[in-house]
Amino acid sequence: MSGKTASSYDAWQTLQKIYDTERSKLVLKDLFAQDPERFTRFSKTYSSDTNPATTLLLDFSKNLITAPILENLILLAREAGVEKWRDQMFAGEHINNSEDRAVLHIALRNFDDFKIAEEGVSEVSGVLSHIKEFTDAVRSGAWKGYTGKGINTIVNIGIGGSDLGPVMVTEALKPYSKRDLKAHFVSNIDGTHIAEILRECNPETTLFIIASKTFTTQETITNAETAKAWFLDTAKDAAHVAKHFVALSTNTKAVTAFGISEANMFQFWDWVGGRYSLWSAIGLSIALVIGYENFEALLKGAHGMDKHFKETPLEQNLPVILAVIGVWYNDFYGAQTHALLPYDQYLHKFADYFQQGDMESNGKSVTKNGERVDYQTGPIIWGASGTNGQHSFYQLLHQGTKIIPADFIAPATTHNPIHHSKHHRILLSNFFAQPEALAFGKSEEEVRKEVGPNAQEGVVKSKVFEGNRPTNSIMFPLLTPEVLGALIALYEHKIFTQGVIWGINSFDQMGVELGKVLAKKILAQLEKPDDVQGHDSSVRIDHSLTSNG
Ligand code: F6P
Repeated sequence: MSGKTASSYDAWQTLQKIYDTERSKLVLKDLFAQDPERFTRFSKTYSSDTNPATTLLLDFSKNLITAPILENLILLAREAGVEKWRDQMFAGEHINNSEDRAVLHIALRNFDDFKIAEEGVSEVSGVLSHIKEFTDAVRSGAWKGYTGKGINTIVNIGIGGSDLGPVMVTEALKPYSKRDLKAHFVSNIDGTHIAEILRECNPETTLFIIASKTFTTQETITNAETAKAWFLDTAKDAAHVAKHFVALSTNTKAVTAFGISEANMFQFWDWVGGRYSLWSAIGLSIALVIGYENFEALLKGAHGMDKHFKETPLEQNLPVILAVIGVWYNDFYGAQTHALLPYDQYLHKFADYFQQGDMESNGKSVTKNGERVDYQTGPIIWGASGTNGQHSFYQLLHQGTKIIPADFIAPATTHNPIHHSKHHRILLSNFFAQPEALAFGKSEEEVRKEVGPNAQEGVVKSKVFEGNRPTNSIMFPLLTPEVLGALIALYEHKIFTQGVIWGINSFDQMGVELGKVLAKKILAQLEKPDDVQGHDSSVRIDHSLTSNG
């Protein structure tokens, strides 16, 4: 089967010509000097219809683009059918073709606004009511453990999308958390992870949340069994499990087989992708930590961004703008990576979260029609919160040989205005300074003036900043649940848009399967080391190294 792929679109070819002929003119210092209106031209604000405090300002003026480049990038999105695919997603069509599934995380935060016919969508509000009822009971102390004590510790056991979203959001919204409810997250199969966390738990007051879409994931099920055995060591009676274990899953059969009753199961559906599932029952730990009302505000914030993405012309559409600028660097400049740099300690897990969100979605090399792409697809996503990164990897951003487009993200105000907000003023000064330094650099002439005529040549050159390194800046008034919802949805739709341009299926993850299958085979052989066969010569399983005694 053959279809048109990204590099054969007219707009792609126009962009290639522009890149080949005009690249040397794309110098940020000059572009700003030539156009005093550049910031106004290349920045956009999103504001929620229902809550003006939910505002995101996207400043994309420090990118290596001109108005015609942006126009052609938008044309590229149009030619790739972004509007068509977007509308199909919102209509519940099965755009995840390899798994024949709809892609409806937007239905989890819809509150009956868009009309979506897919099976299960009408059950969303019932699951939200279940989450609310359960959350209120645990937080108020009405939910009692097997000895009659309230719950003061929750342990979410999950991995990938069943872990990273809850971890990132509970960290990001800590100011809204119930401080006397301790939340732990266990993901790794390495027994050290659960062993260390169980040391901090009391079986009488701990609630385990087993979070797994499939309820077959080896890490999660093994950790869940370990937790159950640990609990029963003290509680003794299996009947007590009902007060201390709940499941978040699409797989009722496996949940009940594990020993958790359906009444303690929070359902979701196969049209929720793992890396898009924090809005579903997988968000139970979030609701427990920040309260149901704040969880709902998070969903509403995302819904506002969904509406913006669905209803705004591509030229004004924030996720689309972020996406096409990303394509410009990824496919024309040959950038390999994209950095996410939040200047907000509460967002310290944001890059980790979108590492899965983006790389598991767009790390593909065949199109939906099965053709090998002849262009680059998803970038490597990485990052850390500012200002820590400045004292570690920013050297390479400023003076290294690679082009690393980066997003700087910051709240205008802080939840912790300590020391008369001095910390926040310093933080923001860095947030503004870094994109400026990256864009405009420091010329050799300036350096020479500073170091004087006797300085060694090597010293002079080492102090030069070439500049012209592209960034986006995203600012919002304060990191509230609604703002965070909008921010996450902004990136989700960016990833969607890029996937459409590249013609790939952003909603399967076949690339994780092979390793899982091999690990299962090797596990069986690790248990009988003498039988090792059928692997390459580097898989030499030495019983003396792998056994514990
Ligand atoms: O192996 C990758 C993956 O399937 C992710 O896509 C998913 O988020 C994670 O594993 C966990 O899956 P589950 O929720 O089914 O346990």
